Amino acid sequence: MLELDQVRAGYGAINVLWDVSLRAEAGQLTTIIGPNGAGKTTLLRAIMGLVPVTAGEIRLNGERLNGTPTWEMADHGIAMIPEGRMVFRDMSVEENLIMGAFHKSHRAHVKRRLEEAYEMFPRLRERRTQLAGSLSGGEAQMLAMARGLMSDPRLLIIDEPSLGLAPLIVNELFEILERLKAGGRTIILVEQNTERAVAVADHVYLVQSGRVALSQVASEVKLKHLHELYFAR
Ligand SMILES: Nc1ncnc2c1ncn2[C@@H]1O[C@H](COP(=O)(O)OP(=O)(O)O)[C@@H](O)[C@H]1O
Ligand SMILES: [Mg+2]
Repeated sequence: MLELDQVRAGYGAINVLWDVSLRAEAGQLTTIIGPNGAGKTTLLRAIMGLVPVTAGEIRLNGERLNGTPTWEMADHGIAMIPEGRMVFRDMSVEENLIMGAFHKSHRAHVKRRLEEAYEMFPRLRERRTQLAGSLSGGEAQMLAMARGLMSDPRLLIIDEPSLGLAPLIVNELFEILERLKAGGRTIILVEQNTERAVAVADHVYLVQSGRVALSQVASEVKLKHLHELYFAR
């Protein structure tokens, strides 16, 4: 279980997150929604140690996580799939996947993990020797997800996977999220597609201007109320 307790974080003199508290329960999908610029990506970066936490604490299974360098996150079973896919364009699909298993302890499992990735994303198998730069947006997102899974993380953090994708691909993407969830993984999903995110989530947080504006069990969320809050200034 990952917990943020009164976290402040930002970029130098510019503070973005103001006393953010939230919990991502083990085996559940927690979604963080909110308008552009609300601080969602900054929140994920704070978890990953990519921006410093200046107040409060982040805990993983009760132990302090903030202060841990980013490159040790894989040791703690955490992987992030960043906003904008960020695949290695000049490397093949399979090389991209292998990069996701960079950690020493994962190398022995590369073959099996590749097979699992291709089972979950059959299109990547078809395209395994193709350069990642030649993939469509949807395929690149699938590749970014599959690469994130190569370290077999217990906690998977995904930043706006559906952004800019065609509706059919978005359907496919949310089906994959359902399957990942069914597989028992803990997931933190940042999304702007609130309806889809709420439908797949166990718990919903709305972030507005760097603060938690709503925290609710997904089954109790009223979309109309959520949208009113979302667009409130
Ligand atoms: N590298 C950066 N340096 C300074 N400010 C930044 C940086 N990245 C993001 N910000 C600012 O932090 C705020 C939150 O951004 P972000 O976390 O990316 O929001 P979201 O992901 O919700 O769209 C915005 O005002 C943005 O301009
Ligand atoms: Mg963002």
